[in-house]
Amino acid sequence: MSVDSGINRPAPVDITRHAHLSGVFAPQRDEVWVDRLEVIGQIPADLQGRYLRNGPNPRFDPIGSYVYPLDGDSMVHSLSISEGEAAYTNRFVRTPMVLAEEAAGHAIWSGITDGYTPSAEEVGSELAGTMRELPDINVVRHGGRLLAMAESDRPYRLDPTDLSTLGRDSCDGAMEVGSTAHPKIDPTTGEMIVFNYAFERPYLTWSVVGPDGRTVRPPTGVDGVDSTLMIHDMALTSRYVVLFLCPLVFDLAAAMAGGSILDWRPDDGTRIALVPRDGSPVRWLHGDPFWVWHFGNAFDNPDGTVTVDYVEWSYPGGFAEIADPSVASLVRAVLHPDSGRIAKTVVSDRNMEFPRVDDRLLTRDHHVVASVGQVDRAPEATDGLLFHDMDRGTERSWDPGVAVGEPIHMPGDDHDYWGAYGTDPTDLTSAFYILSADDPAAGPLATIRMPIRVPAGLHGVWLAD
Ligand SMILES: [Fe+2]
Repeated sequence: MSVDSGINRPAPVDITRHAHLSGVFAPQRDEVWVDRLEVIGQIPADLQGRYLRNGPNPRFDPIGSYVYPLDGDSMVHSLSISEGEAAYTNRFVRTPMVLAEEAAGHAIWSGITDGYTPSAEEVGSELAGTMRELPDINVVRHGGRLLAMAESDRPYRLDPTDLSTLGRDSCDGAMEVGSTAHPKIDPTTGEMIVFNYAFERPYLTWSVVGPDGRTVRPPTGVDGVDSTLMIHDMALTSRYVVLFLCPLVFDLAAAMAGGSILDWRPDDGTRIALVPRDGSPVRWLHGDPFWVWHFGNAFDNPDGTVTVDYVEWSYPGGFAEIADPSVASLVRAVLHPDSGRIAKTVVSDRNMEFPRVDDRLLTRDHHVVASVGQVDRAPEATDGLLFHDMDRGTERSWDPGVAVGEPIHMPGDDHDYWGAYGTDPTDLTSAFYILSADDPAAGPLATIRMPIRVPAGLHGVWLAD
């Protein structure tokens, strides 16, 4: 006799009490296609393209546990801008887990930290014992593919016309072992550089996809790595893949014993790997411990040093039990590969995140880094958009007074623009703001009213027409 083994299924998560399942983060279950969105102000006539953004968005109310931003199914949001008008559509990425849950009408897989997997009676033999696939962190277009990216797994390929799910993809083998969510595309060569961490040797790999979508370099181990570290993002220069190995270690033995799977080990310090893109030996630098989620950009200097702009946290909040809050600064580090010296300058200490530059300037000097951070330092104030001029050392800001997301640089035919989604925490309506890159502090040229709430977080990409 076959019975539903859901009897052992973990209990539902109370979404009303979970900070990342309620309010501006509450899941969006509607999928819509809406033309001619309402606009306050005027969308610049020279701006044509599409902003795609991914983010965690559980298809059904979660069971067991929910760890933001790793848990949650993927929803990709598309905002098309053309001839002064805007249109919006959104779709779940339909992994086998989402499809099975849609058939059942409720969540079947639990959170990634629970250790629970569904049985064959519940989901069939092929999916029994599997973990939920989570391509919910970023969305990338390269080599003819549109990819929804996971933290460390193979991505899902989407149909660019309607965002329907085409299936898992390995990018011709470059992502066979998986990829993190933040590969980097070199605008000069057209190559996409990918890295991934894993629980088996060689623990850390990098690979290269050519502009035609074919593998140029298959997954290649980074020499000198002897444990699995969480590394969320990378930077890229013309010469180097830049990897910061902050001491956040996966500890499977501790996890099996009921402890945390991630262990912060500040005594190890932070190691920096400059991996030459020509395949020559890795250059290592060693510094004090700190934590990085995201890089702005990096570039080579004529004297052989490497400049890296990133947001530096004192430690990974949520993954280390430290009384003082973790604080974030925008840091410019100049790396000296020959001497091993790391020269750091704090550019801004406004507790920011989501540093972004004009993606056309990746691997080159970028002049401006935009981020989300404390415009108003009052603890109850919402974050605004910050624009750091790296040449002049000045900072401009715009505070929409709502929960604002990652900024995106949008080049127009005549002028450049910055954009971001925001959601009003009082009425939970969402908007997309278009700011002039020349004067972002002046506030939006256009505020596009979204037809449905776009949940807060995470990463996106501008696809110019
Ligand atoms: Fe990220």
